[in-house]
Amino acid sequence: MIRRKGPVFCLETPNTTLVIKADTAEYLYYGKKLVSGGGFEPFFGSPRKIFSQYGGDDYTEYSVLLENADGGMSTAFAFSKCKILTEKPEIAGLPSSYGTGKTLELKYVDLPTKAALYLYYTVFDDSDVIAVSSKLVNGSKKEMHVRRLASVQLDLMGDYSFVTFEGTWARERQKISREIGKGVFYNDSKKGGSSHDRNPFVIAEGEDGVYGFNLIYSGNHKELLEQTQSGRARIVCGINDFMFRWALAPGEEFASPEAVMCYAPSEDALSLAMHAFISEHIVRGKWKKRERPVLVNNWEGTYFDFNEEKILNIARAAKETGVELFVLDDGWFGNRCDDRRALGDWFDNEEKTGGGLKHLADKIREMGLDFGIWVEPEMINEDSELYRSHPNFAMKVPGREPTRMRNQLCLNLADEKVQNYVVRVISDVIARSGASYVKWDYNRMLTDPFGKNIPQGEYFHRYMLGYYRIVSRITKKFPSVLFEGCSGGGGRFDLGNFCYFQQYWTSDDTDARERLKIQAGSSYGYPQTVMGAHVSACPNHQTGDSNPLETRFNIACGGLLGYELDMSKLTEDEMKTVAAQIAFYKENRKLLQFGDHYRLGDAFGGNMAGFMTVSKDKNTAIAVVSASEYIICGPVPSISFKGLNPSAVYEVTTREQVNYKNVLSFTAGGDLLMNAKLPLHDLYSDTQSWENSRRLYTRMFIFKKVKS
Ligand code: GLA
Repeated sequence: MIRRKGPVFCLETPNTTLVIKADTAEYLYYGKKLVSGGGFEPFFGSPRKIFSQYGGDDYTEYSVLLENADGGMSTAFAFSKCKILTEKPEIAGLPSSYGTGKTLELKYVDLPTKAALYLYYTVFDDSDVIAVSSKLVNGSKKEMHVRRLASVQLDLMGDYSFVTFEGTWARERQKISREIGKGVFYNDSKKGGSSHDRNPFVIAEGEDGVYGFNLIYSGNHKELLEQTQSGRARIVCGINDFMFRWALAPGEEFASPEAVMCYAPSEDALSLAMHAFISEHIVRGKWKKRERPVLVNNWEGTYFDFNEEKILNIARAAKETGVELFVLDDGWFGNRCDDRRALGDWFDNEEKTGGGLKHLADKIREMGLDFGIWVEPEMINEDSELYRSHPNFAMKVPGREPTRMRNQLCLNLADEKVQNYVVRVISDVIARSGASYVKWDYNRMLTDPFGKNIPQGEYFHRYMLGYYRIVSRITKKFPSVLFEGCSGGGGRFDLGNFCYFQQYWTSDDTDARERLKIQAGSSYGYPQTVMGAHVSACPNHQTGDSNPLETRFNIACGGLLGYELDMSKLTEDEMKTVAAQIAFYKENRKLLQFGDHYRLGDAFGGNMAGFMTVSKDKNTAIAVVSASEYIICGPVPSISFKGLNPSAVYEVTTREQVNYKNVLSFTAGGDLLMNAKLPLHDLYSDTQSWENSRRLYTRMFIFKKVKS
């Protein structure tokens, strides 16, 4: 709801209030919900601004930088008008959040140039997350250039620590908290994709609570925190201004991607708000609220080395254990026998598929499994039919050797011809295979941003506009298909992608110990509903470590369960274990996939960590706890739970694991379970403890309310 009193607007969400003074572009308040209803006058003249520009005595980082026709960069945007919109405006060419709510539109004009700056703040009826975006319109008769246009600026008073989610391939979204003191710190990507290295989700944490920010964008981004000597903390988030220079002809406009921000009293509350927002206002389509299938993916089972027989053997074993969907990964097309060739050749490799994609897909469907397919549409190998016939489709700087990563180049998606080509060939793959699931991969970032007739300063963003045009057309064409995004694991794991792909491959690292951290880090800003999590073979292909099959399953229950190994090689006992796991998962799938998800312990410090999913009515819950090492004669491992009803009594049991048959069963109050530390005397008693000294010890707890 948005309430107005003169120039003051109160934007209210269920638990927060944001107060803006429109005429002076000031933030008067953002935090816990105000119930008193006003008295803002003493707060007028606040140094906290909703946007900032060059030209004047404020030298803190700017949210808007516009190059005038004469080359000057000073502007003096001043208040022009404001409106409350009942329909949320779409952002042309870019993904954005959706839903019922109200939008505040504010307009500021730079009189000498007649350039207009618009800011949009949307509050939804059911969410504490506020969506913010901005737009520049060239009202003059001459061309101008946008040099920076942030999506959101929030000014706070005091010092905040800056929490970011950083990593690398196979170690994405590790939580890092920095006290920056006075100065500027920024988190960004210049890689053309949101990147494995630095996710666009960030948190500013202070005495007053936590403020989370994210960007609905999959390309270059930048989030900065500047803390000045005068005590102001400024957060500016948006598209990265690195190499950025966007021409605006008279009358044209440039829209920023949409950002989201949320105030919450604690990290847990922030995560819950972000999860609910993403599930309701970002993810869309038929699969939004549908339980996701248990899948088997052949990648780690076969890599490129497969034929029809191998694939059908895996599918047969998978079916026997209760798997619902078979995903055929890389290697089914063209002459793709390794990662040096054939990307771009989206025609069937008859030999490896035993007679074509449809033939293989039909055989899998005849077994009673759904069929899913892997594609990597944005890429090209120089050794491919596509490159031989259309070398100009590849992204390259003329006269320079391109950088090859994983032996491949990117396609020039800024070119409409290439976009149309990709839509056509990928639509054909989906249609001819009848796939009900598509894994859309992107295995390298951009290094040679260049397209004929495209100004260099516009290239990165034009690539993204081209990419969004493609994915929006394809996902609209196939509304029943479940799309899983992927980028060498979790390299483009962002809200822009979740507007098209209902789920994402969280990381190429399937080691349970590493996954615990990656999933915990991801869960600060993203719900378990978007995180693909697979049980793979041991020793693990990324780390070489081994963990019991039950541990691998327990950890994978923190996301969307799949298996990624050659299931035809499982022993009879392992088949039974996997069948029991899948039966358990299906029985509890709604809770695990759509319940309220909490982190337990601390995956980034200490020995105990895990997660817990609680049903909306708090009647049932499942928790997974783990100890990352066995400390000889060390403290008894213990854990506190979260999210339960404090006044209810729960019956608590542990899931029987093949390596731990000693099922615990007791009743206890929700308050006790959350406030006390439950000692886990026998956590280290796995029968397979000799397997690997570095293994992760896990237990799964099941909670059922027995008394209110
Ligand atoms: C990426 C993905 C993997 C797999 C391979 C195939 O690395 O993250 O899951 O699909 O590509 O080449």
